[in-house]
Amino acid sequence: MKKIAMLTGGGDCPGLNAVIRAVTRKALLEGYEVFGFRNGWAGVLKGDYFPLTRERVSGILHLGGTILGTSRTNPTDEQLETLVKHIKSMDLSALVAIGGDDTLSVASRLHKLGTPVIGVPKTIDNDIDGTDQTFGFDTAINIAAEAIDRLHSTAESHSRVLVVELMGRQAGWIALEAGMAGGADLVLLPEFPMSLADICKVIKQRQAGGKSFSIVAVAEGFKLEGAEVTATKELDAFGHVRLGGIGETLCREIEKITGIESRAVVLGYIQRGGTPSAYDRVLATRYGVKAVELAMAGKFGHMVALRGPEIIGISIDSVITEVVDKKTGKTKLRVRNRCVPKELYEVAKVFFG
Ligand code: F6P
Repeated sequence: MKKIAMLTGGGDCPGLNAVIRAVTRKALLEGYEVFGFRNGWAGVLKGDYFPLTRERVSGILHLGGTILGTSRTNPTDEQLETLVKHIKSMDLSALVAIGGDDTLSVASRLHKLGTPVIGVPKTIDNDIDGTDQTFGFDTAINIAAEAIDRLHSTAESHSRVLVVELMGRQAGWIALEAGMAGGADLVLLPEFPMSLADICKVIKQRQAGGKSFSIVAVAEGFKLEGAEVTATKELDAFGHVRLGGIGETLCREIEKITGIESRAVVLGYIQRGGTPSAYDRVLATRYGVKAVELAMAGKFGHMVALRGPEIIGISIDSVITEVVDKKTGKTKLRVRNRCVPKELYEVAKVFFG
């Protein structure tokens, strides 16, 4: 019997369970035996897996998180050989790697060593190149827009500036779309710098126009006067610094310059927790089914992608680029980021102030 396995890597994301269910159901229908590795690449390294049956994936479509568990394990070149060995010894026809840029970059390295991998792009940040949208993003912007709606009452009643810090490292999709949907008065993204003086000018002008409060949506990767605000200096296994704190830093500066009482709200993991939206469930389901179809067609080294109304397969290498690892100083492969285009930011700017 043909065997297929899957894993989830990186941060959890609404819709992961919908992908797991879809891959399992489609693969069972096509006569595969199906397995799930626990905790991302860590599970493949340890040979830690379990069978996924129709019963096991029943009742998980609407659940947040991942029944497989996840981790940010980044295998060394030596460990990569172990992964290859484990995958070979299981006699897998395909391995479906469900994850963001880090997980997909490992998938690409594995494919080069002859492993039959298929990628499924995941992240609430919506910043993976090659696909119009990643699952998880729709849920995140709905949660964030609702939060901004709710913050309006406090901002207005207390005549305050509320700075809402949202996820988004290289690309500010969540801040942009939740900000637009929630009617934020200013949206600050990593892609489009704005000086502190200009930020305060918008808030002061708004006040002069009779609006005593302002809501600012800021992506965690926004650089204040060119500097990234980080929670710690430590780097994770993939060489990423832990971002966090831009909301608080910005809010203190705004209060100092404008004299308006200001507070920061950090949405954090609430953006990626809990039940996925209907849109994300459908997108994740379509991705899962397509991943099995790609495996059946022998399209290894490919990932599923949304292009307009269609789900297609594209080579993972077509979205891979070389960057310098901040941790090791060596070059490494990573997936290119898809950033917010200027035209879309210009639409958001119409509503600043
Ligand atoms: O999933 C992507 C992301 O949400 C980023 O926006 C964020 O910086 C990162 O994950 C934080 O995740 P963790 O705290 O799990 O490392």
